[in-house]
Amino acid sequence: MKLFTKTLTTAAIALSVALPVAAADFTMRLSHGDNENNPTHKGALKFEELVEKYSDGRIDVQIFPSNQLGSEQEVAQSLRMGSIESEILYTGNLVPLAPSVGVMMLPYAFTSNEDAHAAMDALKEPLNERLPGEAGVRVLGYFEKGFRVLTNGEREVKTLEDLQGLKVRVSKNNIAIETFKSWGLDPIPMAWAEVFPALQQGVIDGQENPYTTAISSKFYEVQKYITEVHYLIWSGPIIVSERFYQGLPEDLQAALNKAGEEAAMYEREVSAAETEAAKVKLVELGMTLSGAPEDEAKWQEAAKALWPSFAADIGGAEWLEEATEIMNAAIA
Ligand code: MLT
Repeated sequence: MKLFTKTLTTAAIALSVALPVAAADFTMRLSHGDNENNPTHKGALKFEELVEKYSDGRIDVQIFPSNQLGSEQEVAQSLRMGSIESEILYTGNLVPLAPSVGVMMLPYAFTSNEDAHAAMDALKEPLNERLPGEAGVRVLGYFEKGFRVLTNGEREVKTLEDLQGLKVRVSKNNIAIETFKSWGLDPIPMAWAEVFPALQQGVIDGQENPYTTAISSKFYEVQKYITEVHYLIWSGPIIVSERFYQGLPEDLQAALNKAGEEAAMYEREVSAAETEAAKVKLVELGMTLSGAPEDEAKWQEAAKALWPSFAADIGGAEWLEEATEIMNAAIA
């Protein structure tokens, strides 16, 4: 019996040496800026699984989390050149390169996650007529992580007045900067990877990102208060380099699109569940959750008044009109 087992094992080893594992036809590096505890990474793993399944292993996806390949904006530049194949990034970090995606950034455009899903799904194809020309990338699917909430370590923010004087980091784009200015602040644009150390060292007092990020990035260690400013939902496209995409046969392009859309559905579910769990956990960890500002109408009024002035940042007045029509029709 022992001898039989050994013989089998030897045969199995010989077989595995004799039969090389089929190599994929294409390697697709996938970069993102969050760590492995964030819903983005869980969605990325699902995307990898689905691409490899739908391509019958002809595309090998390799995930690089936590900005390992560079900041979200740097990697988006590399996609344009074709030197990195794909990325999942916050819309706010893509908009300086690909202005048309900025329609997802209009403050107070969405009142629920469902509305944002409907809008982003309806925008996918129209955006894919514009983004290859603007930024050398295209969208395969849209992740979503709920409203960006304001955290800070100084004081409870219940009104616009409480907000005044806080040093708040925003992502590096004009829409975020101007929105915070409309609330009376002088916000600090900063790359995502620098945020935690800046909070730790007191360079900034606060930042805004989804609840799940407050958990995965351990903001509870350096922040005390959370305000639900419902101005913006975290949306993040899975983008692929147009050069890479056009080099694929049609069946593999279809595999990427199918995988992108299904991975997005999966990530949205994970994110919704983890957002609820994060709220409970953050209180247990000592944070104060204040809910929406008492004077939310004032925040809205100030930020919404900026919409027309954002046309230049998001691809022009004509696109703003077309995109808002697409979004309104999808939401209705
Ligand atoms: C940011 O604030 O720069 C992003 O929301 C970070 C992320 O991609 O999660």
